[in-house]
Amino acid sequence: MERKNKMEITLAPREQIRGRVKMPGDKSISHRALILSALAEGTVEITGLLAAEDTRATRLCLQQLGVEFQEAGTKLLVRGRGLRGLQEPDDFLQAGNSGTTARLFLGLLAGQPFFSVLTGDRSLRMRPMARVCKPLRQMGARIEGRQGGTLLPLAVRGGNLLPIRYRLPVASAQVKSALLLAGLYTCGRVELFEPGPSRDHTERMLSYLGGRLEKGAPGEIVLAAPCSLAAKKLKIPGDLSSAAFFLVAAALAPQGELLLEAVGVNPTRTGIIDVLQEMGAAVRVLNRKEVCGEPVADLWVQGGRPLTGVAINAPLIPRLVDEIPVLAVAALFAAGETVISGAGELRLKESDRLHALATELQKMGAAIKELPDGLVIQGGQKINGAVCSSHGDHRIAMALAVAALFARGETVVRGIETVDISFPGFFTLLNSLTA
Ligand code: S3P
Repeated sequence: MERKNKMEITLAPREQIRGRVKMPGDKSISHRALILSALAEGTVEITGLLAAEDTRATRLCLQQLGVEFQEAGTKLLVRGRGLRGLQEPDDFLQAGNSGTTARLFLGLLAGQPFFSVLTGDRSLRMRPMARVCKPLRQMGARIEGRQGGTLLPLAVRGGNLLPIRYRLPVASAQVKSALLLAGLYTCGRVELFEPGPSRDHTERMLSYLGGRLEKGAPGEIVLAAPCSLAAKKLKIPGDLSSAAFFLVAAALAPQGELLLEAVGVNPTRTGIIDVLQEMGAAVRVLNRKEVCGEPVADLWVQGGRPLTGVAINAPLIPRLVDEIPVLAVAALFAAGETVISGAGELRLKESDRLHALATELQKMGAAIKELPDGLVIQGGQKINGAVCSSHGDHRIAMALAVAALFARGETVVRGIETVDISFPGFFTLLNSLTA
């Protein structure tokens, strides 16, 4: 594996991937840990926080609201300011590439009695924000921006929020979390109905810190305000979405065997494990425990088993939404057809992931067809090295790197700096485990 410059990498095929490793901290949980610690009554000590571009954006935005941070070895201390202690920022808040930062902050800012403007990078400024702004306006927040106030940059004048009873049009953890954060600032209840289960890290962390969260009927989430959040220690598990690239690489490698330690296995995220097992991969979940309200386990995977294609459809998508890129790669090497449907949300991520996957994997000779809401992949055919682009999307870059390990000849992946969004050190780790 030769790293030519900051922007591209050349990868050669590999037969083996072996070792025992820890994944970087879970990105979704890290964002929530930073935000909820900032609102806690005292100093919160966070261990295992993801240090990457996306979480850095959240941290910098919080700093602009007056929150202080202190590094203490491998821990981060967050000086919580309580629910009412944030300050008006004196400049734009920059969410960078992070949809989670943008959407969760819209909810947080809606609750603040001050004016703020939130923006993001070129990709984020094209991503839909109406799904968050609409219910927040219903709660009484004033939010203005381009295209009828649906795209960043968005100006928020918050405060005095009303309770809300709201049915989410899409199963989105970001929308749900934005409304729960805003809900901390109402005088009553926030009652949400999800069309399908999305990741529940916000609910779990709020409950863990003493938030008044009630589970209603299936799909119903209720937050009763007011409350205050306790300054309890937070330990962040490894990111299953980052582990996914290594699970697939090891499952595909003739000599693959990995132990990934202390990975988050929240059932709203484990679709990747279920699908790999259904495809015939040897994946085991070991040493289950609970850490700060989140299920955590070690993951063991062994390669060399024949895989078969599967059908992945709408109800499963929220449980593996970020893993579709690497699952598409697994499908290339599985016998028969894999059909992914009900995944239109992937067009609204850091890139249009359905289009990016079809375009780039076709360059490698893959038989992959784009559907309006999914992909059809004919597996079991030879894949050739090619010059591919990340489309500026971290998960596309890492999925292509996994495909490259099992292609004939060398593959160049361009635009790999984007990997720092969620997984700095990805290529170094991949290199050391496949050496
Ligand atoms: C995330 C939720 C998901 C996911 C994203 C992270 C979160 O998005 O794709 O990478 O941390 O809440 P949606 O909530 O839009 O589905």
